Amino acid sequence: MSLLLLTCVLFFHAVNVGAEPTHDCLGFKQFNSKDPYETNLNELMNYLMKETPPTGFGLGSKGEGQDTTHGLALCVGDISPINCMSCLTNATNEIRSLCPKSKGAVIWHSFCLLKYSDENFFGQIDMQIHSKIIDKENASDPISFSQKTTSFLMQLANNASVAPKMQVKSSMRVGESEVVGSIAACTRDLSSVDCAKCLRNSIAELPKCCAGKRAASVYSASCVTAYETF
Ligand SMILES: *[C@@H]1O[C@H](CO)[C@@H](O)[C@H](O)[C@H]1NC(C)=O
Ligand SMILES: *[C@@H]1O[C@H](CO)[C@@H](O)[C@H](O)[C@H]1NC(C)=O
Ligand SMILES: *[C@@H]1O[C@H](CO)[C@@H](O)[C@H](O)[C@H]1NC(C)=O
Repeated sequence: MSLLLLTCVLFFHAVNVGAEPTHDCLGFKQFNSKDPYETNLNELMNYLMKETPPTGFGLGSKGEGQDTTHGLALCVGDISPINCMSCLTNATNEIRSLCPKSKGAVIWHSFCLLKYSDENFFGQIDMQIHSKIIDKENASDPISFSQKTTSFLMQLANNASVAPKMQVKSSMRVGESEVVGSIAACTRDLSSVDCAKCLRNSIAELPKCCAGKRAASVYSASCVTAYETF
């Protein structure tokens, strides 16, 4: 049992929500180089890089009027500030080269999220849900496993929505020999009600994308849930 717990703890130190980065260049609005928007975006990235690692979440806006840019960043799991910063550095470099002129963009990079836009999106649920099968193997009893895991995660969603950092981890025994460890987290600009709604919408995808799989994750730019079986 202690070995199982240890494995759980190690896994959830770095929840890998997507092995390859998942990104989206939001909308069609572009900036030209040397626009004030670019300067503001660079300032915002520097700000988020400082602001996010200590608590795992950062949010801010830079610039004025038409040139304002809004952004947030999240590191999921018990990530050290150094690893959070490393993840965000990589995410920033990736997204700036994938969406070089785009005023808005979002990227999930291993265990961190970065989103920015010229529109103020704070407090709104991002409905673009992605899913990832982390372990292609089926659980020993896939149908029962899928039902139990989904209802467990729905409870976890409620708990996350009222947790101080809008993030919780938990584990559950399924059947004889399998233990499911899971994590749920929201960006902290959401209200409790919207955090729960975001997680529930995501978890509702699991039976469609990943039914019975031993490990999977579902995530948007507002919340993430991942589980793994030991
Ligand atoms: C960031 O990129 C560096 C260099 O490729 C790599 O060594 C490091 O593990 C990456 N960090 C994360 C958190 O992905
Ligand atoms: C998992 O289960 C599905 C449906 O029951 C089956 O089609 C598939 O072959 C199984 N995959 C593995 C890796 O066992
Ligand atoms: C949710 O929180 C309640 C109250 O703290 C706890 O009893 C329950 O086990 C938690 N559920 C999950 C899935 O973590």
